[in-house]
Amino acid sequence: MRIAREQVRVRVPATSANLGPGFDALGLALGVWDDVTVRAVAGPTRVVVEGEGHGSLPDGEDHLVVRAVRAGLEMAGAPQAGLELHCRNAVPHGRGMGSSAAAVVAGLVAARGLISDQSALDDDTLLGLATELEGHPDNAAPALLGGATTSWVDAEGPHAVAIPIAAGLRPTVLVPQETLTTSSARRVLPRQVPFDDAAHNVARVALLVLALGGRTDLLLAATEDRLHQDYRADVMRPTADAVRALRDAGWPAVVSGAGPSILVLEPLDRATGDALAAHGWQVLDPGVAPDGAHLIDT
Ligand code: HSE
Repeated sequence: MRIAREQVRVRVPATSANLGPGFDALGLALGVWDDVTVRAVAGPTRVVVEGEGHGSLPDGEDHLVVRAVRAGLEMAGAPQAGLELHCRNAVPHGRGMGSSAAAVVAGLVAARGLISDQSALDDDTLLGLATELEGHPDNAAPALLGGATTSWVDAEGPHAVAIPIAAGLRPTVLVPQETLTTSSARRVLPRQVPFDDAAHNVARVALLVLALGGRTDLLLAATEDRLHQDYRADVMRPTADAVRALRDAGWPAVVSGAGPSILVLEPLDRATGDALAAHGWQVLDPGVAPDGAHLIDT
């Protein structure tokens, strides 16, 4: 395998995982994009970051996109060069919007774009590598494939398929000022859950697949979760309170991924959006990203 292109540019979407009851399985790609240019060079690795993460991310080999490019090149058996990265980041960090999955998937798709035989890094291979770097595939799958996905892991590794979604599905994302790491939000989860709660979520996930596909009248019932959100409430109290208030008012609101952003699977009305904005929430209307990470012309 050889490096066939000196430079590639990748766009990769934000993602929201879980969608309420689909813990570690469901995910949705959102129309907020990171844009990464990767150049193979003879000199040392350097990373320039604009936008989200500027000034707070590593600027060399430890940068997550660099690590992902390296993982992809290594898997393909391609020689490793120095790398120059230019990242223009719009996906908020530490908010449950899949910024680390975006970085990993961008790096892997860039590696695929650099090499002479792109079939060596097909989507299944990239999902496997992304899951190794991320720990779970629920953000990486929609970042790679676009749209809504469900993912699962078996002895062969992670898999993902697209969930058909209604053309009119228009999510709202509420982004707080506060950040939270996924590891902090996973640390508070229990080792076991009541059987009734597990059964509750099985029914809601099945319903959610139908609701996403067009039965939008079912979205509120379908997004009720008992596996993770309540256990996490104490580490994201404003988020938990806002999700509860929105749901009580009839909005299909859930914690976005591991939080603390909120995903509402409908456009909010002006009054509700304005009230949340007045309390410091950034209200986004990003649309669904129908495509996952892809190369664009440089
Ligand atoms: N399913 C994950 C969680 C999403 O809720 O912890 C974060 O990547």
